[in-house]
Amino acid sequence: MNYQTFPTYAEMSRAAAKFLADIVRAKPDCVLGLATGSSPIGTYDELARMHREEGLSFARCTTVNLDEYRGLAGTHPQSYRYFMNEHLFSRVDVRLDHTFVPNGTAADPAAECAAYDARIKALGGTDVQLLGIGPDGHIGFNEPADEFTDATHLVDLDPSTIEANARFFDSAADVPRQALTMGMFGIMGAKRILLVASGAAKKGVLEEAMHGPVTPRLPASILQKHPDVTILFAEK
Ligand code: GLP
Repeated sequence: MNYQTFPTYAEMSRAAAKFLADIVRAKPDCVLGLATGSSPIGTYDELARMHREEGLSFARCTTVNLDEYRGLAGTHPQSYRYFMNEHLFSRVDVRLDHTFVPNGTAADPAAECAAYDARIKALGGTDVQLLGIGPDGHIGFNEPADEFTDATHLVDLDPSTIEANARFFDSAADVPRQALTMGMFGIMGAKRILLVASGAAKKGVLEEAMHGPVTPRLPASILQKHPDVTILFAEK
């Protein structure tokens, strides 16, 4: 694993954006695996700036997001579709019909999950998967469990995740209890993985994920088995 630390979130975000922009420039029709959460916001801001000021174009890119809350429509301000539209898609020239986020309101979540994996497969996997990490070591919404799940699946959110994500909602009671998340097939199938994290609270879990045993109790530890992982960590 390639691990780099930065003094500030802004510097880390610039490095993450450059990493992704280099991929887009080298392969304009690339498939970008994208993530939500607070960690990649600075990366998206910088990509939007590069689009505006440097002509970085996403016009031929396809994007595939990691996850979505079960029950939230894309028009809900806390849905991940809404987040992506706000933070990136509306600010660059990607074609909206080339952006994919699991449909949180699908009547048949199992069918939605199967279709999502079929899409990833049809695209030939992602060229890069951007990740954050949850305080319990989750990636996407792959929560600590007895085994790793390969397929995109419906997951019950861990109480600690509900609590951690309550800051984005009016109260913890408003946080959906379930989510649709890409599994290890989609994540580990990426040609390259870029994980961004910041702050003291993430440092311990990140160390454990990188150097501890590979275990589904700490989902991010599976990244040790991927041949091309870059982790960018900001001290604050
Ligand atoms: C959510 C997302 C994850 C993200 C995590 C950490 O649970 N499903 O993909 O990595 O939050 O979020 P943050 O970056 O805000 O700490």
